[in-house]
Amino acid sequence: MNKVLQNKVAIVTGAGGGLGRAHALELARHGACVLVNDLGGDREGSGARAVVDDIVRSGGEALLNGGDVTNFEQMQAMVAQAVEAWGRVDILVNNAGILRDKSFAKMSMDDFRLVMDVHVMGSVHCTKAVWEQMRAQGRGRIVMTTSSSGLYGSFGQANYGAAKMALVGLMQTLALEGMKHDIRVNCLAPSAATGMTEGILDEAALAGLAPDKVSPGLIALVADDAPTRMILLAGAGSFECAHITMTQGIHADEASDAANVVRDQLGRVQDRTGETVPSSGWEQYKHELAKAGLGEARPV
Ligand SMILES: NC(=O)c1ccc[n+]([C@@H]2O[C@H](COP(=O)([O-])OP(=O)(O)OC[C@H]3O[C@@H](n4cnc5c(N)ncnc54)[C@H](O)[C@@H]3O)[C@@H](O)[C@H]2O)c1
Repeated sequence: MNKVLQNKVAIVTGAGGGLGRAHALELARHGACVLVNDLGGDREGSGARAVVDDIVRSGGEALLNGGDVTNFEQMQAMVAQAVEAWGRVDILVNNAGILRDKSFAKMSMDDFRLVMDVHVMGSVHCTKAVWEQMRAQGRGRIVMTTSSSGLYGSFGQANYGAAKMALVGLMQTLALEGMKHDIRVNCLAPSAATGMTEGILDEAALAGLAPDKVSPGLIALVADDAPTRMILLAGAGSFECAHITMTQGIHADEASDAANVVRDQLGRVQDRTGETVPSSGWEQYKHELAKAGLGEARPV
């Protein structure tokens, strides 16, 4: 097998089971040294410890970390642990996550905050902790784990969906800021049978959705030739891509009753013919300014 990640150093959060475990094993199989993080994963008998043992038994290198992604100091210590052992961090996989599902009407603000904290601030903490290291190396690969629940919505997951879409926003800007240091930032939206999906999938779906069918997509997002700013969907061995697109739209400024023109023309506003994927937020401004005849306008 072509070991595309030979001598690369990877950190995977929430890797004691489910998708994180599958990612850690696949990264190791492709030659990476892997720091396996999971909440309390340093405890005797934890899933994270078993993942480290599996990697070492197969001839790879792995480290165990029991840090909590919601604690920035613990994530800084986790990155320091990897750098001390292996001298660098090439790959960060922000995978740790939780669910607190309820309809929005019944959802407590504490559960909303907790889900935001683990997914959003957890990924921010780990990313911030590796960012200077990757900038100094002039190389880095970061994956945010998003979800179809964020991209497309899911009943009972307002907190989770908001958190997962926040990670797409984080990725969009970090991909731009990381570009000149060859730090590539992508999103992975997996579908897999794990602790998280227990009880919501039937037997046939469970059989097809093994987490290790997602991990080949992860490897593509962290290899030397990885893309940046990609939203990769992966499940049951299939791989697709999601885009945040913009339609060509209309210009209704000259009309005396612009609000009614917009209401009348919503069909044309939504018409997907010729839609594009803007390369930054400013590209969207430029599109609108150009339609207003102000195509030469620039940010000061
Ligand atoms: N399973 C799916 O179909 C699916 C779909 C979309 C997105 N995801 C995302 O994939 C990721 C992995 O989920 P999974 O399905 O493998 O679930 P899982 O519950 O099997 O794994 C999540 C892991 O994160 C760990 N974790 C939770 N809080 C933590 C913290 N504060 N610090 C460190 N570790 C923590 C847990 O201990 C657990 O091992 C999550 O981000 C999840 O939202 C999963």
